[in-house]
Amino acid sequence: MKVLLTGAGGQLGIELAKLLPERGHEVAAFTHRDLDISDAEAVRSALEEHEPDLALNAAAYTDVDGCEEKEDLAYRVNALGPRNLAQHGERLGCELLHVSTNYVFDGESEHPYAPDDLPNPISAYGRTKLAGEGYVKALCRRWYVVRAAGVYGEGHNFVRTMLRVGRERDSLKVKDDEYISPTYAGDLAAGIAEVLDGGLYGTYHVANAGSCSWYGFAEEIFRLSGIEVELNSVPSSEYPLPAARPANGVLSPLGSPELRHWREALAEYLERGGSAPG
Ligand SMILES: NC(=O)c1ccc[n+]([C@@H]2O[C@H](COP(=O)([O-])OP(=O)(O)OC[C@H]3O[C@@H](n4cnc5c(N)ncnc54)[C@H](OP(=O)(O)O)[C@@H]3O)[C@@H](O)[C@H]2O)c1
Repeated sequence: MKVLLTGAGGQLGIELAKLLPERGHEVAAFTHRDLDISDAEAVRSALEEHEPDLALNAAAYTDVDGCEEKEDLAYRVNALGPRNLAQHGERLGCELLHVSTNYVFDGESEHPYAPDDLPNPISAYGRTKLAGEGYVKALCRRWYVVRAAGVYGEGHNFVRTMLRVGRERDSLKVKDDEYISPTYAGDLAAGIAEVLDGGLYGTYHVANAGSCSWYGFAEEIFRLSGIEVELNSVPSSEYPLPAARPANGVLSPLGSPELRHWREALAEYLERGGSAPG
């Protein structure tokens, strides 16, 4: 399949650009610098030039607190970007796989979120990502929406931040009342390739199995990397941030490819040198 990949310089995009050719796909990979998805004309011309079978959108404005302060920019990238890909892709007869987030949910549920649970975002990031999903579903006939959670890979992420501050400080406070499904970007890319192989359109939740709080995640990062630091759990109210985060950000993989446990994926990431500066 001929794939036009956007956001190819991001954590997920890097893994997709490596993996999809290995799976037999022909990939035209565009970083932010190559293609700004909020520029409708640029999107139209890239799709017309490359005539892909599928547009795969891994581009997003992912700075959750930044989205709160720059909601216009967040809307242009996270909502109008997929709108541009959906509208021009549909006209040219290509499918669209759009990557979205667990932050479309409010986190009030006591259970992991299934793909058909009702979104109710509590942040600008979540609202703009949900608007992007809405455009994809309204404008394309053949779409996949893949929601991910707590992604780490080659880039700025929680694992690398913990490794850095864990080496710099004697003690750390990490919040213990927000739960996630930490997900290695390489595994997410493999899950997306599996979704494409299945060829069944719709909404998917692709995340490493299991869940933990950010505190539990930090604990495992330090245990596996042998960093000795005093770790203290705190409520998120102790660290007010511009954007609210869902207390329960855990995804259920109902009807989706199932990935290995997050602890196993993290161990491999750290062994492979995930601690390199990001
Ligand atoms: N990271 C997470 O924890 C997480 C959790 C759940 C879901 N997701 C979703 O997973 C997907 C991939 O996330 P990621 O972790 O790979 O994020 P990432 O590392 O921040 O990658 C996003 C990429 O999009 C690019 N980008 C930003 N604005 C753009 C624009 N206007 N046009 C084209 N490219 C643009 C960024 O480039 P610059 O950096 O140069 O701006 C960056 O390379 C996103 O849809 C995200 O919403 C992520």
